[in-house]
Amino acid sequence: MKSHLFAFITLFTTTALAGPPAKVDQALLDKGKAAFMVNCMACHGEKGAGDGPGAAALNPKPRNFTTDAFKQGETPDAVFKTVSGGVAGTAMVPFAHIPEDDRWALAHWVLELRKVGKPAAPAPAADKKPKK
Ligand code: HEC
Repeated sequence: MKSHLFAFITLFTTTALAGPPAKVDQALLDKGKAAFMVNCMACHGEKGAGDGPGAAALNPKPRNFTTDAFKQGETPDAVFKTVSGGVAGTAMVPFAHIPEDDRWALAHWVLELRKVGKPAAPAPAADKKPKK
């Protein structure tokens, strides 16, 4: 009985280890970039600007990751979900066949591309107080 419980806990813990990466480091981003160049660049373009060689023929076209609002959400979880499940009715098909850890790396690379294109974070709120 006890050994069953132990086996269950072991299995559960192992399963729970799959999922978001423990840390986002350069190795993860490099991995994401490499997978992006193979699987995504044709439509999304090298920098995610939506200008890949295949993009012109698409309707709807992929948006510009660096400037346009994300329709499906832009947290790592949301982007992971988009990559895994696709966007129904568009050329963005599910990429569930890509190994899960590569999909997480891809999600973080997409968000890195987004970060690069965005203006620096706005000044702290204290600076925005109306002048007296
Ligand atoms: C065949 C072309 C094509 C390929 C390949 C492709 N995409 Fe897309 N992707 C699209 C299109 C088109 C959309 C826009 C769908 C829409 O209008 O909502 C999209 C949307 C997205 C979005 C949603 C952005 C939002 O608005 O929330 C993400 C994230 C994304 N793609 C990531 C990827 C990643 C990562 C890969 C590679 C694994 C990839 N795509 C491969 C065409 C493609």
